[in-house]
Amino acid sequence: MGRKALITSALPYANGEIHLGHAASTYLPADATVRFLRMMGVEAYYICASDDFGTPILIQSERENKTPQEYSAYWNRRDLADFEALDVSFDMFYSTSSPENVKFAQYVFERLNQAGHIYRREIIQYYCEADGKFLPDRYVRGTCPKCGAEDQYSDLCEKCSSIPDDILDARCALCGAPPVKRPTTHYFFRLSSFAGPLSDWLDSSPNLQKDVKNYVRSWIKSGLEDWDITRDIPWGVPIPLEEAAGKVLYGWFDNHLAYISTALKFLEARGMDGQEFWNSADIYHFIGKDIVYHHYLLLPAVRMGLESEYKLPDYLPTRGHLTLQSKKISKGRNWYIGLRDFLGEYPADYLRYYLLSITSYSQDDLNFDWDDFATRINSELIGNLGNFVNRSLGFTAKSFGGVVPEPDGTDADDQAARLRISSLAESVGSQMTSNHIDRAVRRLMEFSAFFNQYFQRKEPWRGGPGTASCIYYSVNATYSIAVALCPFLPGSASKMWTQLGLEGAVSDMPWDSASELGIRPGHRLGKIYPIFAKVERAGIEKQKARLGKH
Ligand code: MF3
Ligand code: ZN
Repeated sequence: MGRKALITSALPYANGEIHLGHAASTYLPADATVRFLRMMGVEAYYICASDDFGTPILIQSERENKTPQEYSAYWNRRDLADFEALDVSFDMFYSTSSPENVKFAQYVFERLNQAGHIYRREIIQYYCEADGKFLPDRYVRGTCPKCGAEDQYSDLCEKCSSIPDDILDARCALCGAPPVKRPTTHYFFRLSSFAGPLSDWLDSSPNLQKDVKNYVRSWIKSGLEDWDITRDIPWGVPIPLEEAAGKVLYGWFDNHLAYISTALKFLEARGMDGQEFWNSADIYHFIGKDIVYHHYLLLPAVRMGLESEYKLPDYLPTRGHLTLQSKKISKGRNWYIGLRDFLGEYPADYLRYYLLSITSYSQDDLNFDWDDFATRINSELIGNLGNFVNRSLGFTAKSFGGVVPEPDGTDADDQAARLRISSLAESVGSQMTSNHIDRAVRRLMEFSAFFNQYFQRKEPWRGGPGTASCIYYSVNATYSIAVALCPFLPGSASKMWTQLGLEGAVSDMPWDSASELGIRPGHRLGKIYPIFAKVERAGIEKQKARLGKH
């Protein structure tokens, strides 16, 4: 682990609300990681932006009678507000249509062009004579050649999820007229010429996931195709060549460049040398498995084409998709939970706990299940962790007037308790360092389960010898829990901090303090109350009944 880090999450399209799938695959894993790194003393910044350009956004803005600028700015603000409600701790949330990113994308295009990594070629595109427009991607609808579903996008059949080669019975999505085919000049990025360097990079990058690397190697073997990086639409980064007037860069050319341009903007506003920081930091891009191709091939090849002016990623943590009640999430079928709706019903930390404790460091899909959610919150978060915290602090308040007693002797149980505390930071931290967030959460829950048993066995309510020691170690274990819980459930951790009667922010504590005896005898606790409320089954049934209905 280096002393600096830049962390990004896949940029959300400025085209609809954030839902649980987004939170599970990238935002929460990245947020827990960056919070952990900050506590480890790493100068870590979490950078994100809305992904504003592209045909789907242009079409949708036209439908809503808005300019694409207005439309994407609306979703940018809305998405950020939702992320904040989930306690996602971006240092900066900007946009791919920012002046900085437009300028940077044009600069990158020019550099690649000068270095011979870009060439022009004439292609045949659909064109609507009625609208006087070329019709890329979503501007054409028709019948899917694979499954026969009617009225599908030419770049995606929503019925069978295939990407049709040539859609049947093509129609202009704007006016319904059948389009004609016309030649147009497009610019291509020579991805194919990077096959060798990309293979070498995969071989020499030990921090990239093994299973994903194998996938990517097989793609390289079967041959990389050059990328058409051009669109004949008015919404995108203008191609910086006179001959290309009216043409813009494809969204996947500029969007990942916003990782860099946004980081530079953030760092330089703080008086730092952005490029120097980038190149001396560990670079993490958290992604979902649907965009592996773009992040393991296109993105590194573009950076190589710049002669690594900005270094390649060190980590590309790739996670699977979220399913809902074991079925694929679909907005169209309302098999879907918006983040805002969810947070209107349940606290952010319940969602954070549930999703972080089921997210493995792999491409396996994970499943949101309402009953499992209720069970885990009620029995693990509340029954185990919340119960211990409330018991230890509540008992101190009731029987010791809220003042932590001087330990009265040390028996084998107390010694085991002391040992548990001193190994907590390493036990949870080592899992975090290797990206196993779910295992880190599990270790913390095991710690709390151990202390529940310790408390139970010591029976402090009898008031016998060793009672004061039991309370002393239990309150200190709560201190450890508050510190170690902070990357995962920051809101709950700070409530514990206040109940412990401590000043300042728990998130400012060094990670290793989770293994210290942070509370001295004589310390006075704050006001104690239960931090979590049970998830009621009736509410869960209501939520289940909403799914799939319109
Ligand atoms: N908006 C894209 C998606 O949701 C992700 C963009 S990530 C970036 O699939 F790297 F391109 F920025
Ligand atoms: Zn038309």
